[in-house]
Amino acid sequence: MSCAAELQEAPKTLTSFEDKTPGLLSGRLAQTPDGQINRDETMTIRTTDGRGQRFDSILDTVGNTPTIRINRIAPPNVEVYAKFEAFNPAGSVKDRLALNIIEAAEREGRLQPGQTVVEATSGNTGIGLAMVCAAKGYPLVVTMADSFSVERRKLMRFLGAKVVLTPRALKGFGMYTKAKELAEENGWFLASQFETPDNADIHEATTAREILADFEGKALDYWITGYGTGGTVSGVSRVLRQERPETKIILSEPANAAILGSGYINTRNEQHQPTESHPAFEPHPIQGWTPDFIPWVLQEAVDKGNYDELIPVTGADGITWSRRLAAEEGIFTGVSGGSTFAIAMQLAETAPEGAVMLVMLPDTGERYLSTPLFEGVPEEMTEEEEAISLSTPSAQMPAE
Ligand SMILES: Cc1ncc(COP(=O)(O)O)c(C=O)c1O
Repeated sequence: MSCAAELQEAPKTLTSFEDKTPGLLSGRLAQTPDGQINRDETMTIRTTDGRGQRFDSILDTVGNTPTIRINRIAPPNVEVYAKFEAFNPAGSVKDRLALNIIEAAEREGRLQPGQTVVEATSGNTGIGLAMVCAAKGYPLVVTMADSFSVERRKLMRFLGAKVVLTPRALKGFGMYTKAKELAEENGWFLASQFETPDNADIHEATTAREILADFEGKALDYWITGYGTGGTVSGVSRVLRQERPETKIILSEPANAAILGSGYINTRNEQHQPTESHPAFEPHPIQGWTPDFIPWVLQEAVDKGNYDELIPVTGADGITWSRRLAAEEGIFTGVSGGSTFAIAMQLAETAPEGAVMLVMLPDTGERYLSTPLFEGVPEEMTEEEEAISLSTPSAQMPAE
């Protein structure tokens, strides 16, 4: 039976859970095509079983993020899932790379006990590194352009890191040069998220394995991601190309900073570090995506032809879909998650009937309170809210 036929015949599910876990949801509310609600009399309170383990450290909780069905905002011709990386302990996909950069350096004797770690980061990597360094007892210095959201700086400082700001006019390249210089002058350990093999390796070892496990015995027609360092796409694509060659890998970048789409590869030095700002780069609103150079970690996916399509997206579209994910699905992710989801919705317009898609949602929307994502969200009551307040006599706000 085709997916569309199934949708017409079966009642529309109002919850996102299938009855796979006994006790988790023993019944479902369902809506018939004529709008009637069928109440399942066997429905009981949800119960949980715990994980049956005690974690030795916060670091052991990194990864194994959930794959979640999109129920209300995806069109009926496709089946869309999101891998929600906000479930990592410091709230983003970067916890994975932060942990492996530190542990690989420990394993290989490149990082000494108590040595200071330094990195240029627009936020999520810094927050992940701050969490890892706090748990393991390394001092951390982060360099960051002053254009990034204030809550990111504060979060890193709260997690014990020092944040050194760099002028926004010098873009990503400025913060990067500063981190390198500080490492060289002080003998600090440079995390090098844009060049280190420890980045894509952890996505090969964790993110990709989780995707395989979650889609075992099930179609996966599209896997959709953006890139920052390229660790996610380079690492996951190594595995998908081997194990799920039928899955189309879709990469996205900001429409006004389409540096891969431009075809120009920036120059690099012997350590694979960029030696120039990419000429096709412009500041864009999708924080965490596309720095002003093509990272060496990303170059692997380009050279291996490990993505099938490169689709640009505007920040405005990303913001729209991030807002819809929050307000209509209860999934609170940042602009980059909304942007990746926008690509899925675009692909859905021409995708084969019943196509299954998995979208990466890299972080939590809470990281964007002071950014354009929250523009227009009022602090004071709206007219509608005031009308609700006035509709009953108690506890009304005094008139202004
Ligand atoms: C906020 C954010 N963090 C991280 C990533 C993933 O980046 P990377 O390519 O470094 O794995 C993305 C990309 O989608 C992102 O938007």
